[in-house]
Amino acid sequence: MTYEFTLIEGDGIGPEVTAATIRILAAAGVDIHWTKVPTGAAAVQSHGTPLPDVTLRSVEQTRVALKGPITTPVGHGFTSVNVAIRQALDLYVSLRPVKSIPGVPTRHENVDLVVFRENTEGLYSGREHSPVEGVVETLRVISERACKRITRWANEYVRNEGRDKLTLVHKASIMKLSDGLFLDSFNQVADGYPFVTHEARLIDDVVRGLVIDPNQYDCMVMENLYGDVLSDLCAGLVGGLGVVPGANIGDRYAVFEAVHGSAPDIAGRGIANPTALVQSGVLLLRHIGERKAANNVEKALFSVLERGEVRTGDLGGSANTEQFTNAIMAALGTHG
Ligand code: NAI
Repeated sequence: MTYEFTLIEGDGIGPEVTAATIRILAAAGVDIHWTKVPTGAAAVQSHGTPLPDVTLRSVEQTRVALKGPITTPVGHGFTSVNVAIRQALDLYVSLRPVKSIPGVPTRHENVDLVVFRENTEGLYSGREHSPVEGVVETLRVISERACKRITRWANEYVRNEGRDKLTLVHKASIMKLSDGLFLDSFNQVADGYPFVTHEARLIDDVVRGLVIDPNQYDCMVMENLYGDVLSDLCAGLVGGLGVVPGANIGDRYAVFEAVHGSAPDIAGRGIANPTALVQSGVLLLRHIGERKAANNVEKALFSVLERGEVRTGDLGGSANTEQFTNAIMAALGTHG
């Protein structure tokens, strides 16, 4: 079968890491035809906007996209193309699996966490105003519908992936109405999943616990801002944003992306590390049911990193993107 998916190359190192990833997915034996669509700086030149309609229409048609990082202009212009894509396509789950990588030494070993971040509400609702000069208010929107659908999605994931436990991360002790609504919704949805272990913990307790002993947690669900901060903290536990994957998923569409930025300092030099986006490619393959190919790509990537002979500069090696990609493709031959 040939899949038809959308390719959003993004800015900076985006074209380099997306090219590496699609070569590796092809080498894993999954036949994907990619429709390349414009975003970011290139789209501003060609279409006068960093997120043209044609890009969103393509994802609506193909249902699945692989996306490189997009530069966010600071202080002016479009707030964030990334946030706009999530909102336009109602991608309400930000999925961030965080797993120790063989050969990438970190303070804690065998970390294996999953963060589910509610992607459409909270302080990211974009509703800000200034009631009087010198004072600004931001509206933090929490709805029962959004709390329940992300909690349901997280429970399904825990059950389908054979995970152990789902923790709600909240601050209902202070935000009694908004986080209280999330807590009530979490408890109501939990009733429908009797074989998943549930717990609710205060966010301050969770961040302290994560840096001391991350393995006391398994899967964690939370509202938008907590998830933004906590998922980056978790990435730091296994080597940083350069090695963890991300996906934004809704009921109809899914966008798989690197969570690092466009790295303008190394863009165009062919030295970017594609590890994060390759791992997002693994999530994409699992999403479409190509589990065998997904496991093979993950094994090949991990075996190259574990051997440590071919590594990019950010991980202390001297290989360029192409050499690293070739090493993964060679390892795929032995794992296929
Ligand atoms: P960044 O992640 O682009 O770079 C931080 C540092 O990490 C730099 O030294 C960079 O060279 C390095 N780095 C990042 N990815 C790497 C990779 N794959 N291989 C090797 N080294 C890598 O963060 P920064 O500089 O804060 O952001 C640059 C731009 O990216 C900004 O406009 C920001 O808004 C945007 N951005 C976009 C994201 C997205 O599209 N999902 C996420 C984060 C930032």
